[in-house]
Amino acid sequence: MQRRNFLKKTGLGATGIVATPLLSSWKIAPQHITTEENTQSVIPLAVCTWNFENATAKAWEVLNSGGSALDAVEQGVMIEEADESNQTVGKGGRPDRDGNVTLDACIMDKDGNCGSVVYLQNIVHPVSVARKVMEETPHVMLAGKGAEQFAYEKGFQKENLLTERSKRDWLKWKEKSQYETIINIENHDTIGMLTIDKNGDIAGACTTSGMAYKVGGRVGDSPIVGAGLFIDNEIGGATATGVGEEVVKTVGSFLIVELMRQGKSPQEACEEAVNRIIAKNKNHDTFQVGFLAINKTGEVGSYCIHPGFSYRKYTEEGHTNNPSSSHYKAE
Ligand code: GLY
Repeated sequence: MQRRNFLKKTGLGATGIVATPLLSSWKIAPQHITTEENTQSVIPLAVCTWNFENATAKAWEVLNSGGSALDAVEQGVMIEEADESNQTVGKGGRPDRDGNVTLDACIMDKDGNCGSVVYLQNIVHPVSVARKVMEETPHVMLAGKGAEQFAYEKGFQKENLLTERSKRDWLKWKEKSQYETIINIENHDTIGMLTIDKNGDIAGACTTSGMAYKVGGRVGDSPIVGAGLFIDNEIGGATATGVGEEVVKTVGSFLIVELMRQGKSPQEACEEAVNRIIAKNKNHDTFQVGFLAINKTGEVGSYCIHPGFSYRKYTEEGHTNNPSSSHYKAE
């Protein structure tokens, strides 16, 4: 097993695009399997957005013990959903502007089946409810109270998702906010995960508490199949993080898989999707959007725009201030 940190560092490219430490934490191990028809290279792989190493470690554990790509993505992202210190996913997530923690998630398997929940409250693991929607209903998406009721019927327990820390932060925000929605540009966000199992099959999941202090009822890209996540087992998969509205407008994950179908590498496809967002937004240096993609052979690509953590870029020396940096690339 080879374990690599996805936070690579490079300098400015000719185009002025800057490398970034956006997407991280992947595990990869080359293997070969032989079928009657052919011998093909298969690469079990677990990769996720951001630096959620415990999540990829869990997914890897599942894959390493022969588990399916689907089980691996579900169990991987569940780690972050249960982690109260992560304020962008699951329990402990930041609430909407009225103090309600509302969760969005989706999951997709090798056969193109998918399940999704939006605006789900009081349930720690929306990804598992999404999987139940996929596997135990004729539907793709359940929302709000209906999704919550469905979860209880499937045995999920009601739980308060608003931790003391997130409540304290929200109350502090309310003092000054005048109820403006803010864009979440902290150094962590939605977790999107893509896996390939020992059979070469691909699955993906995406889960989030959405934009901090959002307008009540707001849903982002994460539970929208094609936007926050898309898998085509013949081609590859893609997932997104960042400002969901921009991802939805671009149908970003579907776009990336289709670009890979046309011959682009995962890296080229992610860059194309981000560049389309840039082209449509004069204010692209004010928000963060990133994509992560894999293809069938286990190649990985990622790309994002980010206003920088107060305009920070990644260099060989480490983080330095750079007011002109707004595009970032992880290689
Ligand atoms: N990407 C997460 C959201 O916008 O809700």
